[in-house]
Amino acid sequence: MDSASSVKDENVVWHQHAVDKSLRAELKQQKPAVLWFTGLSGAGKSTIAGALETRLAQLGYHTYLLDGDNVRHGLCSDLGFSEQDRRENIRRIGELAKLMADAGLIVLTAFISPHRVERQMVRDLLLQSEFVEVYVNTSLEVCEQRDPKGLYKKARAGEIANFTGIDSAYEAPLAPEIDLPAGEESIDTLVDLCIAEMAKRKIIFQ
Ligand code: ADX
Repeated sequence: MDSASSVKDENVVWHQHAVDKSLRAELKQQKPAVLWFTGLSGAGKSTIAGALETRLAQLGYHTYLLDGDNVRHGLCSDLGFSEQDRRENIRRIGELAKLMADAGLIVLTAFISPHRVERQMVRDLLLQSEFVEVYVNTSLEVCEQRDPKGLYKKARAGEIANFTGIDSAYEAPLAPEIDLPAGEESIDTLVDLCIAEMAKRKIIFQ
């Protein structure tokens, strides 16, 4: 830590405001949570998270979906795909998801987030009951066959460096709260699985 940041830490004090997370959540009649979708590019993270958000909206829940490709156009537009940049990407999203949960929302995130240590960092930012890791478990073979953006083809041709699954590692979750067989089942079935797990965890009431 440099001297400028240590001075800041000493002189910046957390302010506890009167309207807090529990009041915001109570007004929305829901339990804040972060559903963290992780998986390879093309695994179906954004599609499934989007379909789940639609279902939650129909049920009357207040949500926000943070999507890797979109966030990289704004908040994280200065970041690339080096190990260091991916770490910073996930750190920022983790802090943002925490603020959104503090606002009383059910947050859905769709990022490759390839490293266990970074996903653990986000888990540690939240209450144990709030963080739900959702592994979008689609094999590299299926993702590469789908190749919706033509990026695997480019990576194989050496036109993209550090592409996850090709020349950059993806560490699958060891004990995800939800493990979705996303290469095999329909989107509707996968959303049903998420809804059932959310109900079991009392994040939503059915
Ligand atoms: S993460 O690794 O930092 O979590 P993130 O989810 O934000 O990645 O962005 C992944 C998206 O960026 C992919 O779906 C893909 O469209 C695009 N992309 C561009 N370059 C790469 C790369 N080298 N590796 C993975 N995805 C890439």
